[in-house]
Amino acid sequence: MNPSINSTHLPSLPHQGPLFHSATHTSLTDSQKMVMMKKHPLFSLSLLLMVLCYTTTISAQTPAPSPTSAPTDIIRILKKAGGFTTLIRLLTTTQVSTQINAQLLNSNNGLTLFAPNDNAFQSLKPGFLNSLNDQQKNELIQFHVLPTFVSISNFDTLSNPVRTQAGDDPDRLALNITSSGNQVNLTTGVVNTTVGGSVYSDHQLAIYQVDKVLLPRDFFVPKPPPPAPAPGKAKASSAKKSTDGPASAADNDSAAISLKLKNGMWVPLAFAAALLSL
Ligand SMILES: *[C@@H]1O[C@H](CO)[C@@H](O)[C@H](O)[C@H]1NC(C)=O
Ligand SMILES: *[C@@H]1O[C@H](CO)[C@@H](O)[C@H](O)[C@H]1NC(C)=O
Ligand SMILES: *[C@@H]1O[C@H](CO)[C@@H](O)[C@H](O)[C@H]1NC(C)=O
Ligand SMILES: *[C@@H]1O[C@H](CO)[C@@H](O)[C@H](O)[C@H]1NC(C)=O
Repeated sequence: MNPSINSTHLPSLPHQGPLFHSATHTSLTDSQKMVMMKKHPLFSLSLLLMVLCYTTTISAQTPAPSPTSAPTDIIRILKKAGGFTTLIRLLTTTQVSTQINAQLLNSNNGLTLFAPNDNAFQSLKPGFLNSLNDQQKNELIQFHVLPTFVSISNFDTLSNPVRTQAGDDPDRLALNITSSGNQVNLTTGVVNTTVGGSVYSDHQLAIYQVDKVLLPRDFFVPKPPPPAPAPGKAKASSAKKSTDGPASAADNDSAAISLKLKNGMWVPLAFAAALLSL
């Protein structure tokens, strides 16, 4: 800050190099004196230097953000806003809130959450939420989250369908956003709604209230048949048993493998021979 103080300090401490701010100089020299009396001054000193470098780097990288240094907690924000009881419950039970808080700590892209209020959840078909399994509840909540921070004036920069954290299957998980001025329309193919207002924005996390729950089309179109159903697999393995010799079946047997680990090559060979002789 004060250039005259800086210029008097720096020449008097030439051995410390240009890495350190003037603020760290006094503490460094004091600690240095203490360290010199210890048995392993080099180790202690380098440890001290590492810590100082680390804290300096961290404070240099953090872009002077929130006045409160506590990490962002999406639940706390929604509780403070009020009217999001059901959303808070779903965010918590699906653990998406934990994931969101972690993402906010670890990513620079930020996040956008469309937050249906309690009225929105109440206007769903009765029993709808209870009809969803855990995986579907998770998908429903992730469908309300965009993996980037989008300010209210930047929705027109997105291209449709917009990718949500539920995935990007354009047939099942499409979310289209059209905007004009401050009016932002959302459609999923099942639900149309409009952004009702900004609940929270800190240049990293944006929360917008919506009057309807964004239901993905995925919940309403029939699923393709699952790829490998269990009965087919059982059939295939019994077919394999009938064509393959008993020795190869024994090779893949977990008992044979654990015997092999214990006693080397001979046990499974003996085991196979025993089977062949049956
Ligand atoms: C949003 O939807 C309303 C009708 O629901 C329509 O009148 C308006 O033009 C739409 N705005 C945009 C930006 O798509
Ligand atoms: C979303 O937008 C894409 C591209 O404009 C379009 O092909 C698709 O039909 C739209 N889907 C919905 C649900 O509106
Ligand atoms: C949503 O809006 C589109 C036109 O913007 C309309 O064709 C469609 O029927 C609406 N869907 C619902 C579920 O209201
Ligand atoms: C055991 O079976 C798996 C498939 O189920 C196969 O990939 C593997 O090669 C088999 N191992 C042996 C030793 O036959």
